[in-house]
Amino acid sequence: MRSILGQHNLENKKIILRLDLNVPLIDGIITDTTRIDKIVQTIKFLLEQNSKIIILSHVGRPKGKIVEELSLKPIGEELEKKLNEKVKLIKDNIYKIDKNFIEGFNEKILLLENIRYYPEEENNDEKFAEHLASLGDIYVNDAFSCSHRAHASVCEISKFLPSFSGLQLDLEIEALKKITSNITKPVTCIIGGSKISTKINVIKNLISKFDNIIIVGGMANNIIEYQGNNIGKSIKEENVNSIVNEIISLSKKENCKIIYPEDVVVSNNLNGLPKIKELSEINSDEMILDMGPKTIKKISEIIDITKTILWNGPAGYFENPDFANGSIEIAKKIIENNKENKIYSVAGGGDTVSLLNSLNAVEDFNFVSTAGGAFLEYLEGKELPGIKALN
Ligand code: 3PG
Repeated sequence: MRSILGQHNLENKKIILRLDLNVPLIDGIITDTTRIDKIVQTIKFLLEQNSKIIILSHVGRPKGKIVEELSLKPIGEELEKKLNEKVKLIKDNIYKIDKNFIEGFNEKILLLENIRYYPEEENNDEKFAEHLASLGDIYVNDAFSCSHRAHASVCEISKFLPSFSGLQLDLEIEALKKITSNITKPVTCIIGGSKISTKINVIKNLISKFDNIIIVGGMANNIIEYQGNNIGKSIKEENVNSIVNEIISLSKKENCKIIYPEDVVVSNNLNGLPKIKELSEINSDEMILDMGPKTIKKISEIIDITKTILWNGPAGYFENPDFANGSIEIAKKIIENNKENKIYSVAGGGDTVSLLNSLNAVEDFNFVSTAGGAFLEYLEGKELPGIKALN
């Protein structure tokens, strides 16, 4: 993969920059700007090289049609504020735009309207990609979080132009390599989420490389029940015993410890009173909403002897502070060891990122990924089409 960082010939070049500006929008208001914040550095770098930047991005899933609510307008405005530089949104039909049209603008940053307004984008259409490529001299992918999509502006376009990875994509790959191939051991993964079936391929891929896999959150309930405990009204996924079985037998074969809660915090409902319980004490009208103090202590001890850690998925229903303790204690322990340079830490996944944002702790990890699907697919060991295209 060639990085844009090492390229010295960017002066006056038109750079087609694929970004993932797919940020959450409610009534045109951006509710989380993390993805925008992260790529400011790349744009500033290109501006310093005197390049002209043509940004391509999607937001949401308009499915090949113009959906006004999914315009990049508010995102362009936010970008403008962050960069203190004019960002010109171009709403014209993409087929009416050509190089001359692009040259007609004095602005250094042009933002083409939501690329998913065109069905050709998701179809990875060759002609569409060729047309996109004809607008610039160099293609840069700085959108790791959509590199698992074989779409025209992510994949096919790289056939037609010299193509490079952007600064943020380089950082993401470097961090992911440190937890998947160039690992300093012992290595631990803390994995949560509500559905074990969505994470089974990640767990299967990591079991042979990792020393410990700590399963937390809703998906741990399936393991707790599988071990013969009553989990009451706790959320669980149906028909996954064979998955749990597979995880347990694979972990024995690969000598990887699987850890799951030994005690829990339960309540009768999401806003009820928290009660600490042993696994054997859960009543039928109770639900597991966090892990208990014994489990927190055990996980903290594992973190203390861990040199590399990957965290994906909170430990409980952290939206209610009564059940956020487990997740907060994990975060605090990792941060403590990170500050002393004892651990290399990577976190990712929407809920984990919002938890770390709420604790103002994103900067206290070595790397926090804002990628959802792409992050998981990489951890599953899959080759991402957007990365393959750059290679
Ligand atoms: C994401 O948010 O994960 C990326 O922008 C990809 O979006 P998609 O799942 O709609 O393809």
